[in-house]
Amino acid sequence: MYQNILTENREQIFYITINREDKLNALNIQTLTDIKNAVLSIYEDASVRGVIITGKGSKAFAAGADIAEFANFNVEEGTKMSAEGHAVLRAIDNCPKPVIAAVNGFALGGGNELAMACHIRVASENAKFGQPEVNLGITPGYAGTQRLAQLIGKGRALEFLMTADMLNAQQAYAFGLVNHVVPQDQLMAKCEEILNKIKGKAPMAITSVIRCVNAYYEKRADGADVEINEFGNFFGSEDFMEGTRAFLEKRKANFAGK
Ligand code: COA
Repeated sequence: MYQNILTENREQIFYITINREDKLNALNIQTLTDIKNAVLSIYEDASVRGVIITGKGSKAFAAGADIAEFANFNVEEGTKMSAEGHAVLRAIDNCPKPVIAAVNGFALGGGNELAMACHIRVASENAKFGQPEVNLGITPGYAGTQRLAQLIGKGRALEFLMTADMLNAQQAYAFGLVNHVVPQDQLMAKCEEILNKIKGKAPMAITSVIRCVNAYYEKRADGADVEINEFGNFFGSEDFMEGTRAFLEKRKANFAGK
């Protein structure tokens, strides 16, 4: 079904593993297409409550866009590549279920951009982050200039993008680029722990949190208006009634997702 990724649905978590270990999981166009289709396939799938994206092997999450593939692109092809990459990462960012990047090694260029499009990032101790595009004579093309500034602030982003310096996991944590740093053998368990916690919450409220937070960064939306609207709509939902009733009755809520 997919050429360059492995997928698995286990205990309501959908795992996407980039499967190009010999190329350090470099993101060629087929791989990005696979990731986009896999993510879109679970948007409406009630058996999935969260997604983990990782890279095969212990060396790389993804070492960037595939340099060999785009090395001879012209202006038109380069523009198309960037627009398509943006669309793939938007599909992740707008996913109605929480998406976690399990960064198990190099996250460079498009790899770091992929991780930044996920809602949460967990890094193993050997992870390394970088946007080395200026070394290749280009800028990041998969929203790296936008999301990096959102995550770590404009000044740090500009330095990081212009120097092409790599950050190790602890530096990435100190900058707020990743939420957690764990030993490599505990990486998936940490991601699962976070998703299992989220699984206990009302699914529609989780989707709404993602939509409201994303709205802040949408140029055409007013985040405050979106939040007011989303908040008000909950007052007609079963989960809201169940959640508030459970609190008042001093019991654990049992959400139906309606
Ligand atoms: N695109 C295409 N192929 C890539 C790649 C990329 N972004 N990153 C790594 N590879 C390939 C290498 O060409 C090599 O393939 P080969 O064995 O057929 O020659 C294989 O993956 C292993 O990489 P190698 O460079 O030998 O590993 P290393 O341990 O010496 O170095 C890196 C690791 C990550 C420092 C180095 O691969 C690198 O700098 N990659 C490019 C990072 C980059 O600029 N990304 C942004 C792209 S826009």
